[in-house]
Amino acid sequence: MKDPFLETKAIRTQIERTQFLEHSNPLYLTSSYVFEDAEDMRASFADEKQRNIYSRYSNPNTSEFVEKVCEMEGAERGYAFASGMSAVFSTFAALLNSDDHIVSSRSIFGSTQTMFNNILPKWNISTSYFKIDELDKIEELIQPNTKVIYAESPTNPAVDILDLKRLGDIAKKHNLLFIVDNCFATPYLQQPIKFGADLVIHSATKLMDGQGRVLGGVTVGSEDLIQKIYLFSRNTGPALSPFNAWVLSKSLETLPVRVDRHCDNALKVAEFLEAHDNVNFVKYPFLKSHPQYKLAKQQMKLGGSIVAFEVKGGIEAGRKFLNSIKLLSLSANLGDTRSIVTHPASTTHAKILEDVRLETGITAGLIRVSVGLEHPEDIINDLKQALEN
Ligand SMILES: Cc1ncc(COP(=O)(O)O)c(C=O)c1O
Repeated sequence: MKDPFLETKAIRTQIERTQFLEHSNPLYLTSSYVFEDAEDMRASFADEKQRNIYSRYSNPNTSEFVEKVCEMEGAERGYAFASGMSAVFSTFAALLNSDDHIVSSRSIFGSTQTMFNNILPKWNISTSYFKIDELDKIEELIQPNTKVIYAESPTNPAVDILDLKRLGDIAKKHNLLFIVDNCFATPYLQQPIKFGADLVIHSATKLMDGQGRVLGGVTVGSEDLIQKIYLFSRNTGPALSPFNAWVLSKSLETLPVRVDRHCDNALKVAEFLEAHDNVNFVKYPFLKSHPQYKLAKQQMKLGGSIVAFEVKGGIEAGRKFLNSIKLLSLSANLGDTRSIVTHPASTTHAKILEDVRLETGITAGLIRVSVGLEHPEDIINDLKQALEN
């Protein structure tokens, strides 16, 4: 049979049915698994058999979730984590040694930046940053001890787009790992492995769950890299819980239809904001005015669910706007059915130095809207009354 489409893989990738021949996959709330006899136990621990031993190592629910993400991203193998940040941290901790060096995009999630700046230096692992419009300077940052090029696209929260193929080519030329956080796009809109990524990381907390219920993370890539990440994680314990994996695996079944509607709504919201007199600028990858519009169209199927914009009148006007919101939620999450409005400079990116914030487009008045699945007219009406209040 022809290789199924991504939408079908998201629904039909399944672990074996039990004796009850259930249609919907059951939840395996078990911390460990039993052995037939002493020899079975010995052989399982000696890795002579592939089977579940203990849920910190693997569990049918986490295996199914990971298998689906691998199918959708075009990866060989993966490991599921308790959160997006545990996926980011464990990936770096598993693959890097002390004194290694990372070359990273400046425009990355706040906690990832804090990890690079304040946590990895404990092991003398350092990071040099490049600006999203200075990819031609990356090669100057590469040192003999550089091991990784790291990027997000679209970026959080300024929704800038980085040329993943170009980054992948630079990494390959210098024999470096290329790691991409693909959380904003999801594998439905963009598959970084096609552009040369060795590993793809997701915060599954966002669009993969899509309903704001569970935390989760996942890293996928080649068999040999994931084996190292697996051995690190199996011994250090950042595993995803079976319950959260069960929720996430079910959620992936509807990811393509949800993301389609998120993107339709987000484009409508972006067009509305762009035409509004009280808005300084709007950033949305599929708006013609976006600086990397052409690249976004090449790399992504649709523009994503996040719109960034600035209210006229500076920080005070921004605060007034947020306080006037009635229907949407003021929250730090994104990728939910419920539309969410955030002020990144005072929340998700507050711990980052002001000049670094400005360099990555996070102005004091920048507002990030995670456009949800409410009727688009209701979302727009709420934004309109808050802008005109
Ligand atoms: C791009 C990106 N990466 C990683 C994370 C961290 O994910 P989690 O909150 O699941 O730890 C986030 C969270 O907002 C994010 O936006």
